[in-house]
Amino acid sequence: MAIYEEAGASVTEAQIAVHWREEDYLYPSPRFIGQANAPDPAVRERFSEEHFPECFREYADLLDWDTYWHTTLDTSNPPFWDWFVGGRLNACYNCVDRHLATRANQAAFIWVPEPEADPAQSITYRELYRRVNELAALLRDFAGVQAGDRVTLHLPMVPELPIAMLACARLGAVHSEVFAGFSGTACGGRMADSGSRVLVTMDGYYRDGKALDHKAKADEAVAVAKDQGTEVEKVLVFRRHAGQYMSKAPMAEGRDYFVDDVIAGYRGKLVEPVSMPAEAPLFLMYTSGTTGKPKGAQHSTGGYLAYVAGTSKFYLDIHPEDTYWCFADIGWITGHSYIVYGPLALGTTSVMYEGAPAYPDPGRPWRIAERLGVNIFHTAPTTIRMLRKAGPDEPAKYGYHFKLMVTVGEPIEPEVWRWYHGTVGKREAVVVDTWWMTETGGFMGATLPALEPMKPGSCGPGVLGIYPAIYDEEGKPVEAGSGRAGNICIRNPWPGQLQTIWGQPERFVQTYYAKYCHDTQSKDWHDWPFLCGDGAMQAIDGYYRILGRIDDVINVAGHRLGTKELESAVLTVPEVAEAAAVPVVDETRGRVVEMYVSLKPGYSPSQEIEDKAKAAIEREIGKVARPRNVWVVPDMPKTRSGKIMRRVIAGISNFTDVGDITTLANPEVVEAIRRQVYAEKSARGEAPRPLTEQELEEIKAFGRTE
Ligand code: WT7
Repeated sequence: MAIYEEAGASVTEAQIAVHWREEDYLYPSPRFIGQANAPDPAVRERFSEEHFPECFREYADLLDWDTYWHTTLDTSNPPFWDWFVGGRLNACYNCVDRHLATRANQAAFIWVPEPEADPAQSITYRELYRRVNELAALLRDFAGVQAGDRVTLHLPMVPELPIAMLACARLGAVHSEVFAGFSGTACGGRMADSGSRVLVTMDGYYRDGKALDHKAKADEAVAVAKDQGTEVEKVLVFRRHAGQYMSKAPMAEGRDYFVDDVIAGYRGKLVEPVSMPAEAPLFLMYTSGTTGKPKGAQHSTGGYLAYVAGTSKFYLDIHPEDTYWCFADIGWITGHSYIVYGPLALGTTSVMYEGAPAYPDPGRPWRIAERLGVNIFHTAPTTIRMLRKAGPDEPAKYGYHFKLMVTVGEPIEPEVWRWYHGTVGKREAVVVDTWWMTETGGFMGATLPALEPMKPGSCGPGVLGIYPAIYDEEGKPVEAGSGRAGNICIRNPWPGQLQTIWGQPERFVQTYYAKYCHDTQSKDWHDWPFLCGDGAMQAIDGYYRILGRIDDVINVAGHRLGTKELESAVLTVPEVAEAAAVPVVDETRGRVVEMYVSLKPGYSPSQEIEDKAKAAIEREIGKVARPRNVWVVPDMPKTRSGKIMRRVIAGISNFTDVGDITTLANPEVVEAIRRQVYAEKSARGEAPRPLTEQELEEIKAFGRTE
């Protein structure tokens, strides 16, 4: 976070930060400690800075290597670090094949369809092995996929998704899963960026009681990719119910194929796992940023897999005999690391659920937990808030017992934390608040569940082998306990880190290192702090409190939406001249989007234009980004240099003070917008609610351009 200076007002980090109250510690039970994977404080010592980078050998040794590496960390081409150099392995082998000797008939996944009358399906490690091999054979021999090729997946929460990821990994191909809720256009753009010739998708799926047509998006994706110069050769369509087609979209002759038909030719086929170098890319995960196009975060095979296996073991406390449920979407990095790769590498049983949290009622998750004997539960604050709102007393009605619960994705308010711990966790479970991001591959900040007490609202210290630091705008360290916030960085490289942004190495260096690297010639990693992009403060006990993104990103229900992406979408509406996206604080979804648009001369505001703007966002990005309101305003508040001042309209949308407007070129417009928006909002029954200190600061600082 910057220190904001402007004419007449200055808000420093100190002023922002001193309002927060320290919460008391809570401790794990002796019973939990007795069975924990990391009960011994010596683990901290093993991962101390003096043992870096060799400490990560402990994580890599959780894997089976075809060839052991000779160099743990190669820093010769900074900041493109290479881990476990010389090593070779296959990620699919490590997640599937190697478990056959000991647990072939143990469930790898228990998949729960959304319609509650449909039975859960268990997929044993043996069955997973069979299905992954057959699909790998099909991808290789029917679709021509080879090691190094990119394959885009646009799959919902069905077993076919992890199966497709593992089949790619088996071949050494790079998968790029696009969240199923994203539009065909978003998928097509990512296909073009990664140069994928093959798309794996599904005809439809169930969400919130509705059967959704998903195949239609594939046609749009292929058209968009083609527009951007990438010819998609094959679209492989799984059917949600084999043999019955759920979509209205036609199948394109010679391009689209039903997997359940084609796979008949590959029954029982085995594919030798391709031995890949540790530093070969395993997958791409696209994520939003401040400027323009989403970035394809490229993750490695050896370093990434070692990191997620190690953190799953110590922080999720996964044992093979546990029943672990991460209630998140695999289309998100959380699902890649902590539904698919980490848990499977450790050989545990994972629950996968297709649908919405409160369908058909807010007792659903707890019924699933009770029926399947889930003992580790992992989800995001947005889901927790929704379940708390819809069914605050539901958990007590079910007889499940969690030993550990995880929260991930955004800061969790202490109030919500307490409901999670007390009501969902029945005071028995340890809560681990895990702070990290798409780019980091795995956890960066969290408490070791048996060793470090919980503190609501704080993620905890840096995790094993991660040495964070908070710097001010000038690069000076902000001390723990100073009550001041700054930009949180990771001082050292780590194995789970993204290797680069796909196809844009300069943007990688620019985005994560330009701010704090003072000697770009240095080959010493100490000179390359990694900028996480979050504001944070550290308490005297070393625990971090994360304050949210420092760039213009709106976090809706855990999805990072770039303001630029949203605005670009709305600008596809012909009548629209300018667009600005702002966040509105929302009880359950964290933030929702509101759009402000001004029109080209000759057009006047209409419902039709508002609807077109909403439709454009849905089409270009997806339903998740659909704005709550679109305000057609006479003009945008602008600085003298012509930049839209988003914090002013963000203030209006959140019923808060618009702050200093003396630097505006057109201050008179603010009152007009306020009157219009307040009148409309009260007509729609949207009432103001007091914001917390932290929310107020976010709104005040949003999209700050001056
Ligand atoms: C941003 C990353 C973590 C993987 C899923 C989201 C915020 C994430 C926490 C947490 C406070 C958190 C940060 C981060 N965030 N976890 N436990 N406490 N904030 O990945 O979409 O890349 O978003 O989510 O602001 O930078 P992502």
